[in-house]
Amino acid sequence: MLHELHVHLAIAESEYARVATQFKPTYPAVAELGRKADAIRAHIEAEANRVVESVRTAYRSARDQEERLRARVEDQKGEALKLKDAGVEYAILAREVESNRALYESVLGRMKEMAVAVEVRSSNVSIVDRAVAPTAPSNPPRTRNVLLAAALAAIFGIVVALLREALDGRLKTTEEAELWARLPSLGAVPQMTAAPAAPVPLLPRLFGARLPDGRPIVLCREPDPAVTDSYRQIRTSLLLSRPGGPPRTMLVASGFDGEGKTLTTANLAVAFAQLGGSVLVIDADLRRPSCHRFFAVPSGPGLTEVLTGQCCLDDVLRPVDGHRLSVVPAGEKPPNPTELLGSASMRELLADATGRFDHVFLDSPAAFGMADAVVLSTLVDGVVLVARGRQTPRRLLGKLRARFAYARAPLLGVVLNGADDASEPYGAYHATLDPGPPRPPGAARRAA
Ligand SMILES: Nc1ncnc2c1ncn2[C@@H]1O[C@H](COP(=O)(O)OP(=O)(O)OP(=O)(O)O)[C@@H](O)[C@H]1O
Ligand SMILES: [Mg+2]
Repeated sequence: MLHELHVHLAIAESEYARVATQFKPTYPAVAELGRKADAIRAHIEAEANRVVESVRTAYRSARDQEERLRARVEDQKGEALKLKDAGVEYAILAREVESNRALYESVLGRMKEMAVAVEVRSSNVSIVDRAVAPTAPSNPPRTRNVLLAAALAAIFGIVVALLREALDGRLKTTEEAELWARLPSLGAVPQMTAAPAAPVPLLPRLFGARLPDGRPIVLCREPDPAVTDSYRQIRTSLLLSRPGGPPRTMLVASGFDGEGKTLTTANLAVAFAQLGGSVLVIDADLRRPSCHRFFAVPSGPGLTEVLTGQCCLDDVLRPVDGHRLSVVPAGEKPPNPTELLGSASMRELLADATGRFDHVFLDSPAAFGMADAVVLSTLVDGVVLVARGRQTPRRLLGKLRARFAYARAPLLGVVLNGADDASEPYGAYHATLDPGPPRPPGAARRAA
């Protein structure tokens, strides 16, 4: 456009120049051409301005666009950096994915192999015997262990019992007592559950009195008929102990304290009195007298006073239950019991007592360590040795017998007191025994 205007301007100027050479500038045609050339110039200038303006506008928009593009470039750079980071992360994750995939594939492969192996194996295996869950534990074998333990315990118990039996030197049975004392057994008294340790309040009702179940009472509260029968059995043995008649004076002796001398003396006296005869008990244990406690009578005056001449027999007689059973207590403790018991006064007293009573029983102190019992044994018609079951040493029973035999004592036999086998083998028989009412007076002599 501008170019065309410049062409037109050149044409107009050349026209103007040609005409101006011929005419004056004021010539209308020249003036016309001059105006035409001016108009073209003005047009060119306006056009040029317009072009400049449009170029400027284009420049501005280009600059704006450049800035926009620059901003976008910056954005793209940021994006590119982010992309780079993301690329790193991606690379890591991709590696992880690769390794997990490899792992997964190997596990999968292994599982497939195993499945195949199981398939292959199961095809070779057949169930021969199906496994059954046990109802009881297989180990330890309880029944066998219990049986074994029981057997071992039984063997151990038997061995211990045999050893104890072999090592225990104490008397247990009447056979042992007979064997070691080398004397006949007069009987055995069982171990009582309720021993008469205290004075016996039943004595006043002794003769003819009966327990609620009808059995007669002997000198103990033991309701066991085996006890009363055991004393009756000893009584019978004593009544039959000598061919010419029963001994009138009998000494009850033992080797040690607490073996049952006084209990045996008292019960035998009662048992003999129950036959109807008159019986005297002399407490010749001047060292530890206890007959008065057994018969619940006053303790003095007694034997000591008679032997020392302070009293006569009648003064010291303590009747129990009328006149059938009397007791002479020991009295005052003398300084010289052995001499007193071996004195002529003792002989005289025994002679006097024998004249008045059918049976005279003498209690005595322990024979080992004191001569009292041995001295007395030479004055009586018979000596009853008492041994205590599970207490008296077997060996010493033999020594006791030898001691009395040396003094030529009239040994009648041995009584095992507190014996294991006292009620055997007649236990059941004892339980049904009813000895009946007491015998009338004089029956003792008739029995003898
Ligand atoms: N068979 C028995 N059953 C139960 N206890 C008994 C038996 N024999 C005796 N006893 C008790 O043993 C203790 C001693 O008895 P006892 O007094 O008769 O013996 P002892 O030989 O006279 O004694 P000591 O020499 O001391 O006079 C008493 O308590 C008595 O009750
Ligand atoms: Mg005694």
